[in-house]
Amino acid sequence: MKFLVLGAAAGGGLPQWNCGCRNCVDARAGRIPSSGQSSLAVSADGGRWSVLNASPDIRAQMQANPALHPRGLRDTPLHSVLLTNGDIDHVAGLLSLREQTPFTVFATAEVLEVLAGNRIFDALAADKVARRPIRLNTPFDLQPGLTAELFPVPGKVPLYMEGEEVETDLVGEQTVGVRLSDGARVACYIPGCAEVTPDLLARISDADQLFFDGTLWTGDEMIREGTGTKSGRRMGHISISGPEGSMAKLAGLGAARTYIHINNTNPVWQPDGPERAAVQAAGWTIAADGMEITL
Ligand code: MLT
Ligand code: MN
Ligand code: ZN
Repeated sequence: MKFLVLGAAAGGGLPQWNCGCRNCVDARAGRIPSSGQSSLAVSADGGRWSVLNASPDIRAQMQANPALHPRGLRDTPLHSVLLTNGDIDHVAGLLSLREQTPFTVFATAEVLEVLAGNRIFDALAADKVARRPIRLNTPFDLQPGLTAELFPVPGKVPLYMEGEEVETDLVGEQTVGVRLSDGARVACYIPGCAEVTPDLLARISDADQLFFDGTLWTGDEMIREGTGTKSGRRMGHISISGPEGSMAKLAGLGAARTYIHINNTNPVWQPDGPERAAVQAAGWTIAADGMEITL
């Protein structure tokens, strides 16, 4: 199994268009690498690729990764797109894939309903782009040689669908993780997760590689920095640090571990900072655009 990080950043990217936080200023100045929005590509044979979440940056992400370039007149190595939720950073890229070339979209029925409820996605011609509803906990062929299974992860409905009351730890079809297997190795991809539950731990216990939600370092970092008013919990994202954070909760895993979907406010973006050192000391890597991981 081969992975290509198309976008390591969370929604908004790094730098984010309207942000003057330290990381965004440093990225604009070229002091730290810029990063596109949340997306990971996977291939069993190095020729066919499935994109896990289609970010608004997908055009540039495909351009930056020759493995995803067309090999002929009107062609693509893109076999399928799998969506883990209906968030804008994970679905808006579909609109850039609307030029009459076939591929398949896999997602839960609930996430596909979000697309069906937004007619702009009808730009993806139904006779070219099949939408396949996937049941939870039921393996399916993501591409030849690669089996995937979706499992529920604590989370919430997309931001733009929130009502007055928001449940941030729903466990169902609205937020899922993905388990991938080529028959020899197992990888799990969980870019959004509100909490590491015993169920979730059991689910990922045999993974060789884990890609996990690295949105925030601390739950209150956006409030403290003045870039937002919401806690991580309210956004449906567990923090990396702290006794209840993902670093502590996932410490016992045997898998190689990589943080992905990293918000632009997260101090782990700073290559020489103590937060990145702490994450690396705990055995994690920080995803970066263009990073390749082969299992
Ligand atoms: C998230 O990961 O919480 C969402 O991408 C937020 C958003 O839609 O901006
Ligand atoms: Mn997001
Ligand atoms: Zn910023």
